[in-house]
Amino acid sequence: MKNIVLIGFMGSGKTAVGKQLGERLGLSFKDTDSLIEERLGQKINAIFADKGEAFFRDMESQIIDELTAKDNQVLSCGGGAILRNENVNYLRQNGTLIYLKAPFAVLYDRIKSSSNRPLLTANEPEKTARMLWEARQKVYESVADLSLDTSKKSIEQIVKEIEKLVS
Ligand code: S3P
Repeated sequence: MKNIVLIGFMGSGKTAVGKQLGERLGLSFKDTDSLIEERLGQKINAIFADKGEAFFRDMESQIIDELTAKDNQVLSCGGGAILRNENVNYLRQNGTLIYLKAPFAVLYDRIKSSSNRPLLTANEPEKTARMLWEARQKVYESVADLSLDTSKKSIEQIVKEIEKLVS
C-alpha cells in the first residue's frame, strides 16, 4: 500500500490521527518531528534555538527523503514540510497526501499553550500564526490529493473517514 501522508497546519491533529490510523490499518506510524528530535536528542524548540530554522528544515528534508524509501506507512509531517517542493515530490512519489483542515480559530485554540512550537514564540504569537496559516492554506490545498475538515470531529471519526477514503 502507498504511504498515507498527513499534512496540515500545527494543531490539525496529524500526530494523534496518524497514530490511531496506523494501528487500525496495521501500518507503521512515523512522525517527522519525533524522528528529528530522536536523531538530534533535542526538542524542536531547542533545535530552532541552537541551530536555527534552516538547519531544522534541512533535517526535515533528510528525514522525508529516508522515510519515502518505504511504503506501507502512515506519515505525519510537520506543518512546514510542504513548503519545499523537494519534500512534496518525495512524498507524492509513493504516498497519498491528506490535508487535515480546520479554521484558524480552532487550530490556534489547540496550539496556543504549546511549549514546543518555536514559531509561536514571537511577540505576537496569534498574529504570527495567522499570517503563516493564511500563507500556507493554498499550499496545503494544492499539494493534497484529498482534504478533510476536522474541526468538529473526534480523532476516531477522522480516522474512520480516512480509512474509507483510502480503501
Ligand atoms: C512547524 C510545525 C511543527 C514543527 C515545527 C515547525 C511549522 O510541527 O515541525 O515547529 O513550520 O508549521 P507540527 O505541525 O506537528 O506542530
